Amino acid sequence: MDAPIPDLAERADACAEHLRSADRVVLASHIDADGLTSAAIAATALERAEIPFRTVFSKQLDAEEIAGIAELEPDTVLFTDFGSGQLDIIAEHEAAGDFTPVIADHHQPAGAASDDAAAPDTEFHLNPLLFGINGASELSGAGASYVLARALEPEGVDNRDLAALAVVGAVGDMQASGGELQGANERIVEEGVDADVLETATDLALYGKQTRPLPKLLEYSSDVNIPGISNDQSGALSFLDGLDLDLKSGGEWRRWVDLDDDERQTVASALVQRAVSRGVPADKIDGLVATTYALADESVGTELRDASEFSTLLNATARYERADVGLAVCLGDRGPALDRARQLLRDHRRNLSEGIEWVTEEGVTREDNLQWFHAEDRIRETIVGIVAGMAVGADGIDRGRPIVAFANKSEEEVKVSARGTHSLVRQGLDLSDVMGRASRAVGGDGGGHDVAAGATVPAGTEAEFVEHADEIVGDQLS
Ligand code: C5P
Ligand code: C5P
Ligand code: C5P
Ligand code: ZN
Repeated sequence: MDAPIPDLAERADACAEHLRSADRVVLASHIDADGLTSAAIAATALERAEIPFRTVFSKQLDAEEIAGIAELEPDTVLFTDFGSGQLDIIAEHEAAGDFTPVIADHHQPAGAASDDAAAPDTEFHLNPLLFGINGASELSGAGASYVLARALEPEGVDNRDLAALAVVGAVGDMQASGGELQGANERIVEEGVDADVLETATDLALYGKQTRPLPKLLEYSSDVNIPGISNDQSGALSFLDGLDLDLKSGGEWRRWVDLDDDERQTVASALVQRAVSRGVPADKIDGLVATTYALADESVGTELRDASEFSTLLNATARYERADVGLAVCLGDRGPALDRARQLLRDHRRNLSEGIEWVTEEGVTREDNLQWFHAEDRIRETIVGIVAGMAVGADGIDRGRPIVAFANKSEEEVKVSARGTHSLVRQGLDLSDVMGRASRAVGGDGGGHDVAAGATVPAGTEAEFVEHADEIVGDQLS
Protein backbone atom coordinates (compact mmCIF):
# COMPACT_ATOMS: atom_id res chain seq x y z
CA MET A 1 0.00 0.00 0.00
CA ASP A 2 1.10 3.60 -0.56
CA ALA A 3 2.94 5.35 2.24
CA PRO A 4 0.67 7.85 4.02
CA ILE A 5 3.17 10.72 3.93
CA PRO A 6 5.51 10.20 0.94
CA ASP A 7 8.15 12.64 2.23
CA LEU A 8 8.64 10.50 5.33
CA ALA A 9 8.48 7.11 3.59
CA GLU A 10 12.16 6.44 3.10
CA ARG A 11 13.08 7.31 6.69
CA ALA A 12 10.12 5.34 8.05
CA ASP A 13 11.19 2.29 6.03
CA ALA A 14 14.74 2.52 7.41
CA CYS A 15 13.39 2.74 10.98
CA ALA A 16 11.07 -0.22 10.38
CA GLU A 17 13.82 -2.33 8.90
CA HIS A 18 16.03 -1.71 11.90
CA LEU A 19 13.21 -2.58 14.32
CA ARG A 20 12.56 -5.87 12.53
CA SER A 21 16.14 -6.91 13.20
CA ALA A 22 16.15 -5.78 16.84
CA ASP A 23 16.16 -8.26 19.74
CA ARG A 24 15.32 -6.36 22.87
CA VAL A 25 13.16 -3.33 22.17
CA VAL A 26 12.12 -0.84 24.83
CA LEU A 27 9.28 1.44 23.76
CA ALA A 28 9.50 4.74 25.67
CA SER A 29 6.80 7.39 25.47
CA HIS A 30 5.50 10.64 26.92
CA ILE A 31 2.72 10.97 29.53
CA ASP A 32 0.05 12.91 27.70
CA ALA A 33 -2.71 12.12 25.22
CA ASP A 34 -0.34 12.28 22.26
CA GLY A 35 2.29 10.21 24.06
CA LEU A 36 -0.21 7.51 25.07
CA THR A 37 -1.70 7.22 21.61
CA SER A 38 1.83 7.15 20.17
CA ALA A 39 2.69 4.26 22.49
CA ALA A 40 -0.52 2.39 21.67
CA ILE A 41 0.07 2.74 17.92
CA ALA A 42 3.71 1.66 18.20
CA ALA A 43 2.88 -1.23 20.56
CA THR A 44 0.17 -2.55 18.26
CA ALA A 45 2.41 -2.30 15.20
CA LEU A 46 5.31 -4.04 16.98
CA GLU A 47 3.00 -6.79 18.16
CA ARG A 48 1.52 -7.33 14.70
CA ALA A 49 5.06 -7.47 13.29
CA GLU A 50 5.94 -10.00 16.02
CA ILE A 51 8.73 -7.85 17.44
CA PRO A 52 9.03 -8.37 21.23
CA PHE A 53 9.18 -5.22 23.35
CA ARG A 54 8.37 -3.69 26.71
CA THR A 55 6.87 -0.26 27.34
CA VAL A 56 7.94 2.52 29.72
CA PHE A 57 6.61 6.06 30.20
CA SER A 58 8.35 9.24 31.25
CA LYS A 59 7.07 12.63 32.36
CA GLN A 60 10.12 14.44 31.06
CA LEU A 61 12.87 12.70 29.14
CA ASP A 62 16.15 13.97 30.60
CA ALA A 63 19.65 12.57 31.14
CA GLU A 64 18.60 10.65 34.24
CA GLU A 65 15.54 9.12 32.59
CA ILE A 66 17.53 8.07 29.55
CA ALA A 67 20.21 6.53 31.77
CA GLY A 68 17.42 4.60 33.51
CA ILE A 69 16.20 3.27 30.16
CA ALA A 70 19.78 2.25 29.25
CA GLU A 71 19.89 0.20 32.46
CA LEU A 72 17.12 -1.99 31.08
CA GLU A 73 19.85 -3.16 28.67
CA PRO A 74 17.83 -2.78 25.49
CA ASP A 75 19.25 -3.48 22.10
CA THR A 76 17.02 -0.78 20.60
CA VAL A 77 14.97 2.00 22.19
CA LEU A 78 11.95 3.26 20.26
CA PHE A 79 11.19 6.78 21.55
CA THR A 80 7.75 8.11 20.65
CA ASP A 81 6.47 11.70 21.16
CA PHE A 82 9.83 12.69 22.59
CA GLY A 83 13.50 12.05 21.89
CA SER A 84 14.18 14.74 19.29
CA GLY A 85 14.64 17.37 21.99
CA GLN A 86 17.16 15.10 23.74
CA LEU A 87 19.19 14.04 20.67
CA ASP A 88 22.42 15.20 22.28
CA ILE A 89 22.03 12.86 25.26
CA ILE A 90 20.65 10.00 23.17
CA ALA A 91 23.53 10.27 20.69
CA GLU A 92 26.01 9.90 23.56
CA HIS A 93 24.38 6.65 24.64
CA GLU A 94 24.43 5.44 21.06
CA ALA A 95 28.13 6.27 20.74
CA ALA A 96 28.81 4.39 23.98
CA GLY A 97 27.11 1.32 22.51
CA ASP A 98 24.28 1.35 25.07
CA PHE A 99 21.46 1.02 22.53
CA THR A 100 20.38 1.97 19.02
CA PRO A 101 17.75 4.72 19.12
CA VAL A 102 14.74 4.91 16.83
CA ILE A 103 12.79 8.16 17.27
CA ALA A 104 9.24 8.95 16.11
CA ASP A 105 8.68 12.50 17.34
CA HIS A 106 7.55 15.98 16.35
CA HIS A 107 9.37 18.25 18.79
CA GLN A 108 12.14 20.66 17.80
CA PRO A 109 15.39 18.67 17.55
CA ALA A 110 18.00 19.68 20.15
CA GLY A 111 20.47 22.11 18.62
CA ALA A 112 18.18 22.88 15.69
CA ALA A 113 17.55 26.46 16.73
CA SER A 114 21.26 27.19 16.63
CA ASP A 115 21.54 26.01 13.00
CA ASP A 116 24.64 24.18 14.10
CA ALA A 117 25.94 21.85 11.37
CA ALA A 118 27.59 19.77 14.09
CA ALA A 119 24.28 19.41 15.95
CA PRO A 120 23.82 15.79 17.00
CA ASP A 121 21.66 13.50 14.91
CA THR A 122 20.99 9.83 14.57
CA GLU A 123 20.17 7.53 11.64
CA PHE A 124 16.67 6.37 12.60
CA HIS A 125 15.12 9.75 13.35
CA LEU A 126 11.57 10.15 12.04
CA ASN A 127 10.43 13.75 12.64
CA PRO A 128 8.24 15.85 10.31
CA LEU A 129 10.40 18.93 11.00
CA LEU A 130 13.34 17.25 9.21
CA PHE A 131 11.22 17.03 6.07
CA GLY A 132 9.65 20.47 5.94
CA ILE A 133 6.43 19.46 7.71
CA ASN A 134 5.28 21.53 10.69
CA GLY A 135 5.51 19.52 13.92
CA ALA A 136 3.19 21.82 15.87
CA SER A 137 0.30 21.90 13.42
CA GLU A 138 0.67 19.22 10.74
CA LEU A 139 1.87 16.04 12.46
CA SER A 140 1.89 14.89 16.09
CA GLY A 141 3.92 12.23 17.87
CA ALA A 142 1.04 9.81 17.27
CA GLY A 143 1.10 10.80 13.59
CA ALA A 144 4.84 10.08 13.34
CA SER A 145 4.23 6.76 15.12
CA TYR A 146 1.43 5.99 12.67
CA VAL A 147 3.75 6.60 9.71
CA LEU A 148 6.19 4.16 11.31
CA ALA A 149 3.38 1.66 11.98
CA ARG A 150 2.42 1.68 8.30
CA ALA A 151 6.07 0.99 7.39
CA LEU A 152 6.15 -1.91 9.87
CA GLU A 153 3.22 -3.78 8.29
CA PRO A 154 4.06 -7.40 7.50
CA GLU A 155 2.43 -9.14 4.49
CA GLY A 156 -1.32 -9.25 4.89
CA VAL A 157 -1.54 -6.75 7.79
CA ASP A 158 -3.33 -3.41 7.42
CA ASN A 159 -2.44 -0.90 10.15
CA ARG A 160 -4.74 1.84 8.87
CA ASP A 161 -7.14 1.15 11.75
CA LEU A 162 -4.52 2.89 13.93
CA ALA A 163 -5.33 6.19 12.18
CA ALA A 164 -8.12 6.72 14.74
CA LEU A 165 -5.61 6.87 17.61
CA ALA A 166 -3.30 9.07 15.52
CA VAL A 167 -6.13 11.59 15.18
CA VAL A 168 -6.81 11.47 18.95
CA GLY A 169 -3.12 12.28 19.50
CA ALA A 170 -3.14 15.19 17.05
CA VAL A 171 -6.33 16.63 18.52
CA GLY A 172 -4.90 16.15 22.04
CA ASP A 173 -1.90 18.26 21.03
CA MET A 174 -4.34 20.97 19.85
CA GLN A 175 -3.36 20.53 16.21
CA ALA A 176 -6.97 20.99 15.14
CA SER A 177 -7.29 24.27 17.01
CA GLY A 178 -7.69 26.21 13.75
CA GLY A 179 -10.96 24.33 13.11
CA GLU A 180 -9.66 21.23 11.37
CA LEU A 181 -6.60 19.06 10.96
CA GLN A 182 -4.32 20.11 8.14
CA GLY A 183 -1.40 18.98 6.02
CA ALA A 184 0.00 15.55 6.81
CA ASN A 185 -2.67 15.06 9.48
CA GLU A 186 -5.30 15.30 6.77
CA ARG A 187 -3.76 12.35 4.94
CA ILE A 188 -4.04 10.29 8.12
CA VAL A 189 -7.69 11.29 8.47
CA GLU A 190 -8.32 10.11 4.89
CA GLU A 191 -6.74 6.75 5.64
CA GLY A 192 -8.86 6.37 8.76
CA VAL A 193 -12.03 7.20 6.82
CA ASP A 194 -11.06 4.69 4.10
CA ALA A 195 -10.44 2.06 6.77
CA ASP A 196 -13.89 2.81 8.31
CA VAL A 197 -12.48 3.76 11.72
CA LEU A 198 -13.06 7.53 11.45
CA GLU A 199 -15.98 9.76 10.49
CA THR A 200 -15.65 13.49 9.94
CA ALA A 201 -18.43 16.05 10.07
CA THR A 202 -18.89 19.79 10.14
CA ASP A 203 -20.53 20.48 13.46
CA LEU A 204 -20.72 22.76 16.46
CA ALA A 205 -17.19 23.34 17.77
CA LEU A 206 -18.01 23.06 21.47
CA TYR A 207 -16.25 20.56 23.71
CA GLY A 208 -18.42 17.81 25.17
CA LYS A 209 -20.96 17.04 22.44
CA GLN A 210 -20.94 13.36 23.35
CA THR A 211 -21.18 13.46 27.10
CA ARG A 212 -22.32 16.85 28.40
CA PRO A 213 -25.99 17.70 28.98
CA LEU A 214 -26.91 20.65 26.74
CA PRO A 215 -26.87 23.39 29.42
CA LYS A 216 -23.35 22.36 30.48
CA LEU A 217 -22.22 22.11 26.87
CA LEU A 218 -23.18 25.75 26.34
CA GLU A 219 -22.17 27.08 29.74
CA TYR A 220 -18.66 25.68 29.41
CA SER A 221 -18.23 26.86 25.82
CA SER A 222 -15.08 28.75 26.72
CA ASP A 223 -13.43 28.52 23.29
CA VAL A 224 -16.00 30.84 21.71
CA ASN A 225 -17.40 33.32 24.18
CA ILE A 226 -21.14 33.85 23.68
CA PRO A 227 -22.32 36.70 25.92
CA GLY A 228 -25.08 35.68 28.31
CA ILE A 229 -24.46 31.96 27.73
CA SER A 230 -20.77 31.12 28.21
CA ASN A 231 -19.84 30.84 31.87
CA ASP A 232 -23.44 31.72 32.73
CA GLN A 233 -25.46 28.84 34.14
CA SER A 234 -28.84 30.56 34.27
CA GLY A 235 -28.19 32.28 30.93
CA ALA A 236 -27.51 28.95 29.23
CA LEU A 237 -30.66 27.47 30.77
CA SER A 238 -32.94 30.32 29.75
CA PHE A 239 -31.47 30.32 26.23
CA LEU A 240 -32.39 26.64 25.85
CA ASP A 241 -35.80 27.12 27.48
CA GLY A 242 -36.50 29.86 24.96
CA LEU A 243 -36.12 27.54 22.00
CA ASP A 244 -39.21 25.84 20.64
CA LEU A 245 -37.74 22.37 21.15
CA ASP A 246 -38.24 19.48 23.53
CA LEU A 247 -34.73 19.25 24.93
CA LYS A 248 -35.45 17.03 27.89
CA SER A 249 -36.11 13.35 27.99
CA GLY A 250 -37.42 11.63 31.13
CA GLY A 251 -36.79 14.87 33.03
CA GLU A 252 -33.08 14.88 32.09
CA TRP A 253 -31.45 17.28 29.69
CA ARG A 254 -30.49 15.63 26.43
CA ARG A 255 -26.98 15.84 25.02
CA TRP A 256 -25.95 17.17 21.60
CA VAL A 257 -25.55 13.60 20.31
CA ASP A 258 -29.16 12.88 21.24
CA LEU A 259 -30.50 15.61 18.93
CA ASP A 260 -31.51 14.97 15.34
CA ASP A 261 -30.19 17.09 12.48
CA ASP A 262 -33.10 19.55 12.51
CA GLU A 263 -32.85 20.09 16.26
CA ARG A 264 -29.11 20.66 16.00
CA GLN A 265 -29.69 23.14 13.20
CA THR A 266 -32.19 25.04 15.33
CA VAL A 267 -29.87 25.27 18.35
CA ALA A 268 -26.86 26.20 16.22
CA SER A 269 -28.72 28.96 14.33
CA ALA A 270 -30.05 30.41 17.58
CA LEU A 271 -26.52 30.44 19.00
CA VAL A 272 -25.18 32.23 15.96
CA GLN A 273 -28.03 34.75 16.12
CA ARG A 274 -27.32 35.39 19.77
CA ALA A 275 -23.63 35.89 19.06
CA VAL A 276 -24.37 38.29 16.18
CA SER A 277 -26.88 40.29 18.22
CA ARG A 278 -24.37 40.63 21.07
CA GLY A 279 -21.70 41.94 18.73
CA VAL A 280 -19.37 38.92 18.63
CA PRO A 281 -17.01 39.54 15.67
CA ALA A 282 -17.58 37.48 12.51
CA ASP A 283 -14.28 35.58 12.70
CA LYS A 284 -15.15 34.43 16.23
CA ILE A 285 -18.59 33.33 15.08
CA ASP A 286 -16.95 31.26 12.32
CA GLY A 287 -15.15 29.47 15.14
CA LEU A 288 -18.47 28.10 16.41
CA VAL A 289 -18.37 25.53 13.63
CA ALA A 290 -15.48 23.13 13.01
CA THR A 291 -14.61 19.72 11.67
CA THR A 292 -15.18 17.02 14.24
CA TYR A 293 -13.59 13.59 14.29
CA ALA A 294 -15.59 10.62 15.49
CA LEU A 295 -14.22 7.14 16.17
CA ALA A 296 -16.59 4.96 14.19
CA ASP A 297 -16.15 1.81 16.29
CA GLU A 298 -16.87 3.49 19.64
CA SER A 299 -20.33 3.82 21.19
CA VAL A 300 -22.20 7.06 20.59
CA GLY A 301 -22.45 9.18 23.75
CA THR A 302 -19.16 8.03 25.28
CA GLU A 303 -15.92 9.96 25.72
CA LEU A 304 -14.27 7.57 23.30
CA ARG A 305 -16.50 8.48 20.38
CA ASP A 306 -15.11 12.01 19.99
CA ALA A 307 -11.39 12.58 19.40
CA SER A 308 -11.31 15.65 21.62
CA GLU A 309 -13.10 14.05 24.58
CA PHE A 310 -11.02 10.89 24.17
CA SER A 311 -7.83 12.93 24.39
CA THR A 312 -8.97 14.61 27.62
CA LEU A 313 -9.76 11.19 29.10
CA LEU A 314 -6.21 10.12 28.29
CA ASN A 315 -4.67 13.24 29.84
CA ALA A 316 -6.71 12.45 32.95
CA THR A 317 -4.80 9.18 33.33
CA ALA A 318 -1.25 9.80 32.23
CA ARG A 319 -0.81 13.18 33.86
CA TYR A 320 -1.71 11.55 37.19
CA GLU A 321 0.82 8.74 37.02
CA ARG A 322 -1.67 6.26 35.55
CA ALA A 323 -0.35 5.98 32.01
CA ASP A 324 -1.00 2.24 32.30
CA VAL A 325 -4.74 2.95 32.53
CA GLY A 326 -4.78 5.22 29.49
CA LEU A 327 -2.68 2.82 27.46
CA ALA A 328 -5.03 -0.06 28.29
CA VAL A 329 -7.99 2.04 27.11
CA CYS A 330 -6.17 2.83 23.85
CA LEU A 331 -5.46 -0.86 23.41
CA GLY A 332 -9.16 -1.69 23.71
CA ASP A 333 -9.92 -2.34 27.40
CA ARG A 334 -13.55 -1.28 27.83
CA GLY A 335 -13.91 -2.80 31.31
CA PRO A 336 -11.85 -1.99 34.41
CA ALA A 337 -9.43 0.39 32.68
CA LEU A 338 -12.22 2.49 31.19
CA ASP A 339 -14.01 2.65 34.56
CA ARG A 340 -10.83 3.79 36.26
CA ALA A 341 -10.14 6.33 33.51
CA ARG A 342 -13.61 7.82 34.01
CA GLN A 343 -12.99 8.26 37.73
CA LEU A 344 -9.69 9.93 36.98
CA LEU A 345 -11.46 12.17 34.47
CA ARG A 346 -13.77 13.51 37.15
CA ASP A 347 -10.75 14.50 39.27
CA HIS A 348 -8.96 15.97 36.25
CA ARG A 349 -11.96 18.14 35.33
CA ARG A 350 -12.22 19.41 38.88
CA ASN A 351 -8.49 20.19 38.93
CA LEU A 352 -8.74 22.05 35.63
CA SER A 353 -11.70 24.16 36.67
CA GLU A 354 -10.22 24.92 40.12
CA GLY A 355 -6.93 25.80 38.45
CA ILE A 356 -8.55 28.15 35.96
CA GLU A 357 -10.61 29.75 38.69
CA TRP A 358 -7.51 30.32 40.79
CA VAL A 359 -5.58 31.89 37.90
CA THR A 360 -8.39 34.21 36.88
CA GLU A 361 -8.97 35.31 40.48
CA GLU A 362 -5.30 35.75 41.24
CA GLY A 363 -4.52 37.36 37.89
CA VAL A 364 -1.25 37.40 35.99
CA THR A 365 1.75 39.71 36.15
CA ARG A 366 2.45 41.60 32.95
CA GLU A 367 5.93 42.19 31.64
CA ASP A 368 6.68 44.14 28.44
CA ASN A 369 6.20 41.15 26.15
CA LEU A 370 4.65 38.34 28.19
CA GLN A 371 2.39 37.61 31.17
CA TRP A 372 3.06 35.08 33.90
CA PHE A 373 1.78 33.49 37.09
CA HIS A 374 3.29 31.17 39.70
CA ALA A 375 0.93 28.48 41.02
CA GLU A 376 3.46 27.11 43.55
CA ASP A 377 1.74 23.93 44.81
CA ARG A 378 -1.80 24.98 43.91
CA ILE A 379 -1.74 23.43 40.44
CA ARG A 380 -0.09 20.13 39.64
CA GLU A 381 2.95 20.69 37.45
CA THR A 382 1.74 18.10 34.92
CA ILE A 383 -1.41 20.11 34.14
CA VAL A 384 -0.27 23.70 34.68
CA GLY A 385 0.30 24.05 30.91
CA ILE A 386 -3.25 22.91 30.10
CA VAL A 387 -4.62 25.37 32.69
CA ALA A 388 -2.49 28.21 31.27
CA GLY A 389 -3.74 27.47 27.75
CA MET A 390 -7.38 27.31 28.83
CA ALA A 391 -7.11 30.51 30.88
CA VAL A 392 -5.98 32.62 27.93
CA GLY A 393 -8.84 34.85 26.84
CA ALA A 394 -10.50 34.80 30.28
CA ASP A 395 -10.95 38.11 32.13
CA GLY A 396 -7.64 39.87 32.59
CA ILE A 397 -5.66 37.35 30.56
CA ASP A 398 -4.55 38.85 27.33
CA ARG A 399 -4.59 36.95 24.03
CA GLY A 400 -2.04 39.38 22.62
CA ARG A 401 0.99 38.08 24.49
CA PRO A 402 2.25 34.65 25.50
CA ILE A 403 1.51 33.25 28.95
CA VAL A 404 4.18 31.65 31.13
CA ALA A 405 3.14 29.48 34.06
CA PHE A 406 5.22 28.17 36.96
CA ALA A 407 4.43 25.32 39.34
CA ASN A 408 6.61 23.56 41.89
CA LYS A 409 8.00 20.26 40.75
CA SER A 410 10.07 19.44 43.87
CA GLU A 411 11.98 21.34 46.53
CA GLU A 412 14.74 22.01 44.03
CA GLU A 413 12.95 22.30 40.73
CA VAL A 414 10.20 24.37 39.16
CA LYS A 415 8.18 23.43 36.07
CA VAL A 416 7.54 26.10 33.45
CA SER A 417 4.85 25.92 30.77
CA ALA A 418 4.37 28.50 28.04
CA ARG A 419 1.49 28.94 25.61
CA GLY A 420 1.05 31.30 22.66
CA THR A 421 -1.39 31.72 19.81
CA HIS A 422 -1.03 30.95 16.12
CA SER A 423 -1.35 34.63 15.38
CA LEU A 424 1.68 35.39 17.61
CA VAL A 425 3.59 32.57 15.90
CA ARG A 426 2.91 34.23 12.55
CA GLN A 427 4.46 37.39 14.01
CA GLY A 428 7.65 35.49 14.88
CA LEU A 429 7.00 33.91 18.28
CA ASP A 430 8.88 30.64 18.90
CA LEU A 431 8.30 29.46 22.46
CA SER A 432 10.51 26.41 22.00
CA ASP A 433 13.46 28.74 21.47
CA VAL A 434 12.34 31.01 24.35
CA MET A 435 11.98 28.11 26.82
CA GLY A 436 15.24 26.52 25.67
CA ARG A 437 17.42 29.63 25.91
CA ALA A 438 15.86 31.25 28.98
CA SER A 439 16.01 27.97 30.94
CA ARG A 440 19.61 27.22 29.99
CA ALA A 441 20.55 30.76 31.04
CA VAL A 442 19.43 29.92 34.60
CA GLY A 443 20.76 26.36 34.71
CA GLY A 444 17.67 24.48 33.50
CA ASP A 445 16.53 22.97 30.22
CA GLY A 446 13.49 23.14 27.99
CA GLY A 447 12.00 23.02 24.51
CA GLY A 448 8.84 22.00 22.69
CA HIS A 449 6.98 23.73 19.86
CA ASP A 450 6.69 27.30 18.59
CA VAL A 451 3.17 27.69 20.00
CA ALA A 452 3.53 25.65 23.20
CA ALA A 453 6.69 24.78 25.11
CA GLY A 454 7.99 23.98 28.55
CA ALA A 455 11.06 23.85 30.76
CA THR A 456 12.41 22.84 34.14
CA VAL A 457 14.44 25.41 36.09
CA PRO A 458 16.13 25.46 39.52
CA ALA A 459 13.84 26.80 42.26
CA GLY A 460 14.54 30.46 42.97
CA THR A 461 15.54 31.37 39.41
CA GLU A 462 12.01 32.30 38.27
CA ALA A 463 12.51 36.08 38.27
CA GLU A 464 15.71 35.82 36.30
CA PHE A 465 14.04 33.35 33.95
CA VAL A 466 11.15 35.78 33.31
CA GLU A 467 13.62 38.55 32.53
CA HIS A 468 15.39 36.41 29.92
CA ALA A 469 12.16 35.09 28.43
CA ASP A 470 10.65 38.57 28.22
CA GLU A 471 13.68 39.85 26.35
CA ILE A 472 13.74 36.92 23.90
CA VAL A 473 10.01 37.25 23.16
CA GLY A 474 10.58 40.98 22.58
CA ASP A 475 13.32 40.23 20.05
CA GLN A 476 11.17 37.64 18.26
CA LEU A 477 8.16 39.92 17.92
CA SER A 478 10.09 43.04 16.94
O1 C5P B 1 4.35 17.25 24.54
P1 C5P B 1 3.55 17.86 23.53
O2 C5P B 1 3.90 18.03 22.15
O3 C5P B 1 2.73 16.61 23.41
O4 C5P B 1 2.40 18.78 24.01
C1 C5P B 1 1.83 19.76 23.22
C2 C5P B 1 1.13 20.70 24.16
O5 C5P B 1 0.98 21.91 23.48
C3 C5P B 1 -0.29 20.23 24.58
O6 C5P B 1 -0.46 20.43 25.96
C4 C5P B 1 -1.20 21.16 23.80
O7 C5P B 1 -2.37 21.42 24.54
C5 C5P B 1 -0.32 22.40 23.61
N1 C5P B 1 -0.69 23.18 22.41
C6 C5P B 1 -1.42 24.33 22.56
N2 C5P B 1 -1.81 25.05 21.45
C7 C5P B 1 -1.47 24.63 20.22
C8 C5P B 1 -0.70 23.47 20.04
C9 C5P B 1 -0.32 22.76 21.18
O8 C5P B 1 -1.73 24.71 23.68
N3 C5P B 1 -1.89 25.34 19.18
O1 C5P C 1 -7.30 18.54 28.64
P1 C5P C 1 -6.97 18.83 27.22
O2 C5P C 1 -5.63 19.46 27.03
O3 C5P C 1 -7.16 17.67 26.31
O4 C5P C 1 -8.03 19.91 26.75
C1 C5P C 1 -8.13 20.29 25.41
C2 C5P C 1 -9.22 21.33 25.28
O5 C5P C 1 -10.48 20.74 25.59
C3 C5P C 1 -9.09 22.48 26.25
O6 C5P C 1 -8.32 23.53 25.74
C4 C5P C 1 -10.53 22.88 26.46
O7 C5P C 1 -10.93 23.81 25.50
C5 C5P C 1 -11.31 21.63 26.30
N1 C5P C 1 -11.72 21.04 27.59
C6 C5P C 1 -12.88 21.48 28.20
N2 C5P C 1 -13.30 20.92 29.38
C7 C5P C 1 -12.58 19.96 29.95
C8 C5P C 1 -11.39 19.50 29.37
C9 C5P C 1 -10.99 20.07 28.18
O8 C5P C 1 -13.54 22.37 27.70
N3 C5P C 1 -13.02 19.45 31.11
O1 C5P D 1 4.49 20.45 29.81
P1 C5P D 1 3.86 21.35 28.83
O2 C5P D 1 2.47 20.92 28.49
O3 C5P D 1 3.95 22.79 29.13
O4 C5P D 1 4.71 21.15 27.51
C1 C5P D 1 4.54 21.90 26.34
C2 C5P D 1 5.43 21.34 25.28
O5 C5P D 1 6.81 21.56 25.62
C3 C5P D 1 5.28 19.86 25.13
O6 C5P D 1 5.40 19.57 23.77
C4 C5P D 1 6.47 19.29 25.90
O7 C5P D 1 6.88 18.05 25.44
C5 C5P D 1 7.53 20.35 25.66
N1 C5P D 1 8.55 20.39 26.74
C6 C5P D 1 9.89 20.19 26.45
N2 C5P D 1 10.84 20.26 27.42
C7 C5P D 1 10.49 20.51 28.71
C8 C5P D 1 9.13 20.70 29.03
C9 C5P D 1 8.16 20.65 28.02
O8 C5P D 1 10.23 19.95 25.29
N3 C5P D 1 11.43 20.56 29.65
ZN1 ZN E 1 3.09 15.42 21.15
